Amino acid sequence: MFGLSQNKTKGWKRLEREYKRIKKVQMRNLFEQDERRAEKYTLRLNGLTLDYSKNRIDDKVLSALLNLAKERGVTQKIKEMFDGSKINFTENRSVLHIALRNRSNRKILSDGKDVMPQIREVLNKMKNFSEAVRLGKFKGQTGKKLTDIVNIGIGGSDLGPFMVCEALKKYWAKGIHCHFISNIDGTACAEVLDGLNPETTLFIVASKTFTTIETLTNAKTCRKWLVDSLGEHAVAKHFVALSTNKAEVEKFGINPENMFEFWNFVGGRYSVWSAIGLIICIAIGFENFEKLLDGAFAMDEHFRKAEPQNNMPLILALLGVWYNNFFNIHRYAVIPYDQYLQYLPSYLQQLDMESNGKSVDKNNSFVKYATGPVLFGGAGTNVQHSFFQLLHQGTEPVPVDFIVPAISHNEIGNHHTILLSNVLAQGEALMKGKTISEATEELRQSGKSKQEIESLKKYKSFTGNRPSNTLLFKKIDPFALGQLIALYEHKVFVQGIIWNINSFDQMGVELGKQLALNILPELENRAFGLNHDVSTLALIKEVKKLRK
Ligand code: F6P
Repeated sequence: MFGLSQNKTKGWKRLEREYKRIKKVQMRNLFEQDERRAEKYTLRLNGLTLDYSKNRIDDKVLSALLNLAKERGVTQKIKEMFDGSKINFTENRSVLHIALRNRSNRKILSDGKDVMPQIREVLNKMKNFSEAVRLGKFKGQTGKKLTDIVNIGIGGSDLGPFMVCEALKKYWAKGIHCHFISNIDGTACAEVLDGLNPETTLFIVASKTFTTIETLTNAKTCRKWLVDSLGEHAVAKHFVALSTNKAEVEKFGINPENMFEFWNFVGGRYSVWSAIGLIICIAIGFENFEKLLDGAFAMDEHFRKAEPQNNMPLILALLGVWYNNFFNIHRYAVIPYDQYLQYLPSYLQQLDMESNGKSVDKNNSFVKYATGPVLFGGAGTNVQHSFFQLLHQGTEPVPVDFIVPAISHNEIGNHHTILLSNVLAQGEALMKGKTISEATEELRQSGKSKQEIESLKKYKSFTGNRPSNTLLFKKIDPFALGQLIALYEHKVFVQGIIWNINSFDQMGVELGKQLALNILPELENRAFGLNHDVSTLALIKEVKKLRK
C-alpha cells in the first residue's frame, strides 16, 4: 500500500488474512475460551488502566498489528519527533508540543537550537502573571481585582483551554470565573459580555497566527466594549495576547509586554500546554497547571520508551487502524462518563480529524486507503439516551472508547455508582449482544405468547461483537487529564505514521476561508457578481433579501 506505487506491503496483506480469519469470530467465545483474556489485554500506567480486551483481536492479530507498526518504522518516527526533526514537512517545521511539557533537563533541539530555555521563560512569565491575577496584584484600570477572565480564540486556541477548564472546574480559584468566546456569531460575544463588568474583566486574545478573522473580530468587539466604558488606557490592563506573531499583536494594539509567546513548532491543536493554557493557570493555579504538564510528560516518557506491545498510545492507534482499514469502519466514538469531561469529544474531534483527515501521502500521491475516521461522542449516560441505539443495533458497528473516572468530584448518594454500572454495562452489552435464542427465552419467561415471541424476537436481539476500549482511572485531576490528552495526541500521531500522511498541517481548512473572503464583499454590497456557482449566487441573493 505505501510508497509511490501504494502496493500493499507484506504486513498489510498479513493483516488482510487475519481479518478474513477473525471476522466471523465472536468476542464472547474468545472470552469463554480464555479466562486470562482481560488481564492479557490490559495495560496500566500511573493509575491509568486501558482494558482493550473487548476488541476483535487475538494474539495473532495483535502480533500482525505490531508487525505493521514495525514495518512502518513507528519507533524510529517517534524518535524523530522527540529529536525535533521537521516531521511537519509541508510546513518545514519540527513538532514539539512534547517540549512544552518536558519536565526533565533533557535538551530538545529545533534547527540545532535548544528550545527549552525559551519554553521555561514563558512558563515563568505565565506563573508570575497568573499568580498576580489570582492574588489581585495585577489589577484592572480602576484598581479592582480581575475576576472574569475571557479567552477569545478558536479551534486549538479555544478547545484545549475550554475543555481543560471545564474538566478541572473543581480546581478553580474561588471568585474567578472563566468565559470563552470562539464563534464569529455575534451571539457568542453578546452572551459572554452581557452581565460582565469591564472593570473586573480580563481578555486573553489567543491566536497562534493572530490573523484568524473570527478571533480578531471578536477581540475588536470586546476592545470597543472595554474602551467605551473605561477609555483607551484600559487596554493595557485588560488585554493580553497569546501568539507566535508579535508584529500582528502590536498592530492590534496590545503591548508586546502583555504578550505570552509560543512558537511555530507548536501546532494549534497541540497548543494547550503552551501560553495558550494561560486561562487554565489563572483558573486552577500554576501548580495544578504543572501537574497537567507532569501527566503529559509521564505519557511522553512511556510513549518514547515502552516496548510496542506495552505502549498504550501505540496499541490504541493500531486498534483504530484495524477497524478503519480492515473492517472498513470509518468512525469511532469517545464517551466520557463524567460530566466534567463533556467537552473532551469536541476537543478530540479537532485533534484527530484535523490531524488525520488527509488524502495525500508523504510521497505526494493520493492515498488508496482510508485515513482519519470520523470521531464523535458526548457524555455518558446522556448519550445512551440519544445515539446509543445505533451503536447497539445499527447496521455497522462503531468502536467506542469509554473514559471512566472511578470516583466523582461530586459523590452524591449513589449517583456515581449508577453511572459506573451503566458504563460497564454498555461495554458488556456491546461485546456480548443478545442472540435470537436468548431473546426468545427472555420473551418466553416474560409470559409472551408464541405469536408475540415470533414477531418480537429479532427486534429484541443484539448482534454484539461490537468493540470498545475502557480507560479507567481514579479521579479526574490535572495529572490524569494530562496523561489522557497526551495519550490521544500520540495515538493520532502513530496512525498518521501508519497511513504515511502528515498529521501536523491543516491545509483543508483554507479553501472555505478563501471563498468566505470572496463572498463577504458581496454580502456587504461592496462587490457584485463575483465568480460563484449558480447555487451559491442564488443563496447570496436570498440571504441579502432576508437581511434587508
Ligand atoms: O482553521 C484551522 C486553524 O488553523 C486551527 O488549526 C487552529 O487551531 C485555529 O485555526 C485557530 O488558529 P489561530 O490560533 O492561529 O487563531
